[in-house]
Amino acid sequence: MQIAKTVRGLVAALGLATTVLATSASAQTYPSKPISLIVPFAAGGPTDVLARTLAASMTKNLGQTVVVENRVGAGGTVAAGAVSKAAPDGYTFLIHHNGMATAPTLYRKLPYNVEKDFSYVSLIADVPMTLLGSKNFPPNNMGEFIAYAKKEGDKINLANAGLGAVSQLCGTLLQQSLGTKFTAIPYSGTGPAMTALLGGQLDVLCDQTTQTLPQIKADKVKLYGVTTKDRLSYLPDAPTLNESGLKGFEIVVWHGIYGPKGVPPEAIARFNEALKAALKDPAVIQKINDLGAVIVPESQQNPAALQAWLSSEINKWAPLLKAAGQYAD
Ligand code: MLT
Repeated sequence: MQIAKTVRGLVAALGLATTVLATSASAQTYPSKPISLIVPFAAGGPTDVLARTLAASMTKNLGQTVVVENRVGAGGTVAAGAVSKAAPDGYTFLIHHNGMATAPTLYRKLPYNVEKDFSYVSLIADVPMTLLGSKNFPPNNMGEFIAYAKKEGDKINLANAGLGAVSQLCGTLLQQSLGTKFTAIPYSGTGPAMTALLGGQLDVLCDQTTQTLPQIKADKVKLYGVTTKDRLSYLPDAPTLNESGLKGFEIVVWHGIYGPKGVPPEAIARFNEALKAALKDPAVIQKINDLGAVIVPESQQNPAALQAWLSSEINKWAPLLKAAGQYAD
């Protein structure tokens, strides 16, 4: 997550200039009605938790309700497609993660262009992922998990929230690194997948700490490892997947807010201002910290930083996904 900060710092100055320019033209009338914030996965999951945490605080700042709506399907591409075609009036936004950058490689016929059909609001926060097993799944630690996975292969059920989901991305890299194939169980988001894991109907889930940390702390799941480059200070006993023999394995989930292309700069600036205020709200900071996420520095809380980061992430994931042979028509 440190690396992300450093790389993104290069675009900070440009982003700040854009935001200041837009703010100076701020419209007094916006917003005059509720704003929809579309979540591309099921309610109760990590993207939803982040969206609802921000929406509550942004509502106070904007004086209008930010209504969180879950529009699930096709690994987040249904929601992104809907937002790309929404009226560009500042009343419909999308919150999304790495899936925004992986979809152009994963889908041969994506019905939108991530770099041409959206306007950008800001980066938000970075979140580590954790590899978990259900309490009745035999392996007790990462070493046992690797040995079991190599032996049992497709007898093991692994959650998958669709092509474009980070749970799916993690699962793809995991299977590729282990040279094994699990049985993918589809969910509309990792919220329902976590319910299945807790109920013992699912064996393995790779998911963000924004959902998993409370379950790990309550000892309701088995924690095998973390997807970050370094161990996490708040889960010091969990090995990284990289140190466990899955060389080079690293996923950090980043989040951003988008609108359809053509949203007036004044509306983008006002929504961005409310987001920035939320990211300074002590209640939001506390909740995000408690869930193991890291708010991006203020220098990255602007449209240009998100646009540049998205572009670099498209380029980063394309060769890795192509090598893993992941496509949908
Ligand atoms: C969710 O919010 O349900 C997850 O982020 C889905 C995923 O990408 O795995």
